[in-house]
Amino acid sequence: MQTGRGNWNSRLGFILAAAGSAIGLGNIWRFPYTAGENGGGAFVLLYLVFVFLIGVPVLLAELSMGRASERSAVGAFKKLVPDTWWPAVGGLGVITGFGILSFYAVIAGWTLQYVYLTLTGTFSGEVTPESSGAIFGAVSSSGPGAIFLTGLFLLLTMLVVRGGISGGIERAAKILMPVFLVVLVALVARSLTMEGAAEGVRFLFDPDFSKLSAGAVVSALGQALFSLSIGMGAMITYGSYLPKNVNLPTSAFIVALFDTGIALIGGLIIFPALFSVGAAPNGGPGLVFVIMPTIFSAMGGAGQLFGIAFYVLLAVAALTSTISLLEVIVTYFVDEQKWSREKATWVLGGICFLIAIPSALSQGAWAPLSPGSGFPGGDFLSLANIIFGNYCLSIGAIFICLFVGWKWGVKSAVAEMSRNGALPAAGFWSFMVRFVCPLAVLLVLIYAAWTGNYL
Ligand code: TRP
Repeated sequence: MQTGRGNWNSRLGFILAAAGSAIGLGNIWRFPYTAGENGGGAFVLLYLVFVFLIGVPVLLAELSMGRASERSAVGAFKKLVPDTWWPAVGGLGVITGFGILSFYAVIAGWTLQYVYLTLTGTFSGEVTPESSGAIFGAVSSSGPGAIFLTGLFLLLTMLVVRGGISGGIERAAKILMPVFLVVLVALVARSLTMEGAAEGVRFLFDPDFSKLSAGAVVSALGQALFSLSIGMGAMITYGSYLPKNVNLPTSAFIVALFDTGIALIGGLIIFPALFSVGAAPNGGPGLVFVIMPTIFSAMGGAGQLFGIAFYVLLAVAALTSTISLLEVIVTYFVDEQKWSREKATWVLGGICFLIAIPSALSQGAWAPLSPGSGFPGGDFLSLANIIFGNYCLSIGAIFICLFVGWKWGVKSAVAEMSRNGALPAAGFWSFMVRFVCPLAVLLVLIYAAWTGNYL
């Protein structure tokens, strides 16, 4: 049945790898800053609705496509219904993979710099949002520095992807994800006990719908898809390595719960501390990097240790995500273009590095791409984040639903999901994938275009 493509070794290994893909900078970096820019509570509520009503059904659609076909994001469409134009949807996914990786690796590079900064005691004294902001500004606006860090992070990614499915990715995820959770919970405890923390909790959970712009609705949808790693075939790819005895619905639900839980934990770390030190919630992509050091400083002696642990584990969480992004691209070239894994990893990783350079230079190093230049979306990195992370994923999700709902067929998908026990609410799932999910995503996109509020 399997022909040397490799497999996950166990259900736990798969869940941790899929959760590793889902949990990353999207939870700790993107979710808080996007929630901050979009007014908090109402955005968060909408995000949760999108995760469970659209995200989980699409996640299941992707996983069943992957496992039924045992092919890449492109090959799955070809294998399930031959001779159609549908593999183009997988092609969009591969392009989206390049696009997301190109800005994601830049942020991931910053985490490496922050490992170094905490190791050398940079945040040991009194830290204010101003002093921390100045350090962040120096890190993010250094052109050669940012390019080097981006390259270093991509190199780490390539080293794991080169190792293949169970050897590289699964082993790394199994050990490190649980440790991350423990450190995060400790940080929530500290942040919640800072003076004035309650205001942060209110910001996150007390919805004020008057603050909800059309842009915020697209961002909430984009965030739900981005955070679950769906809409571009990453979960088709991961599903393709799944043994047949793993229960898909249970796994998908566990992954979604983990992922959403950690995003909320991310918010519960950032916002109480943010209000406690009197910073503004709409601080943009630098938000997490500016606020976290103020928490470590409030922890006194143990702060440095927590700082080191936090950035090391955030880098690891980012790594298990960049691995899945590169894996989509690599699996496509290995399966469909018959490249060796080795060649695919180095060549495609190298291309990612080149297209990441404009994003690396867009946080102050090169003015025309940076904030304040009037660049659409604010700066080059933010624009890439919006185009690939919101729009391409939304469009991908619509077509994946249409393919599974109408072309391959919900019957085949339900059969794939029911291999180890009947899918609970199969009728409901089918209805969602055929009608509600594609229409809802389409409506959100139309609403944004209509109001002109799309960046
Ligand atoms: N979900 C990851 C995060 O939240 C990012 C990510 C990894 C991703 N693979 C993906 C997003 C595939 C979309 C598609 O950090």
